[in-house]
Amino acid sequence: MKVEIFDYAQEVAERVADLLEDQLRVYPYSQLGLATGTTMVPIYKEMVRRVQENRLNLAGVRTFNLDEYVGLDESNPNSFMAFMREHLFEPVGLPREHSYFPWPDFSRCPARYDDLIKECGGIDWQLLGIGHNGHIGFNEPQTPWDSKTHEVILTADTRRANRQAFGGEWLKVPQKAVTMGIGTIMHSRTIVLVALGKGKSAILAQALRGPMTLQVPASVLQRHPHTFVLCDRAAGTLLDR
Ligand code: F6R
Repeated sequence: MKVEIFDYAQEVAERVADLLEDQLRVYPYSQLGLATGTTMVPIYKEMVRRVQENRLNLAGVRTFNLDEYVGLDESNPNSFMAFMREHLFEPVGLPREHSYFPWPDFSRCPARYDDLIKECGGIDWQLLGIGHNGHIGFNEPQTPWDSKTHEVILTADTRRANRQAFGGEWLKVPQKAVTMGIGTIMHSRTIVLVALGKGKSAILAQALRGPMTLQVPASVLQRHPHTFVLCDRAAGTLLDR
């Protein structure tokens, strides 16, 4: 893994956009795996800025989001689809038919999402955040490393962490989601994991410097051949030691 620590979140966002520019310069028709969450807001803002400045061209990409809450369709403002529309798809004019989500399209057989990804040629470039418990996508601790896209019951911790969009009431956060599995994520050719803020420092150090363990799902990335970890100084404080 290549770990890069920057002073500010904006510098992290610029580096992520640089990496995407590099990817698309060589493979303009890449399949991108995308994440949602607060970490991604400055990242997508920077991507949008570069598209508007004609530095980044997303016209040829297809996107596959990591996860979606069960029961929240695209008309629901708290769905991840609505998040993506607001922060990336609409500002860059990405056509609806170029983006895929594991729910509701694959609600009957979530593993078919893996088949679709494979049929499209696999994920070339996967963006990830990290949860306070080490989750990637919504793969909570103890998820098998060879898992495919599947339905999950979210832990109370994860629902609390995501409560902001639900008026601060964690009980309103859906109990279930569908997520790419750890196996799905590990098949990506390039992975870019981003962590921002002091709250992520302990789990980032465990994932990167601790043992590979099911207890910390992100620790599996130690085994991935082409992963970048980009963080700000606050998230990276425990990595320097
Ligand atoms: C979201 C996702 C999650 C988040 C993680 C961090 O699509 O897959 O793994 O990346 O929960 O969320 P934030 O960025 O809100 O701290």
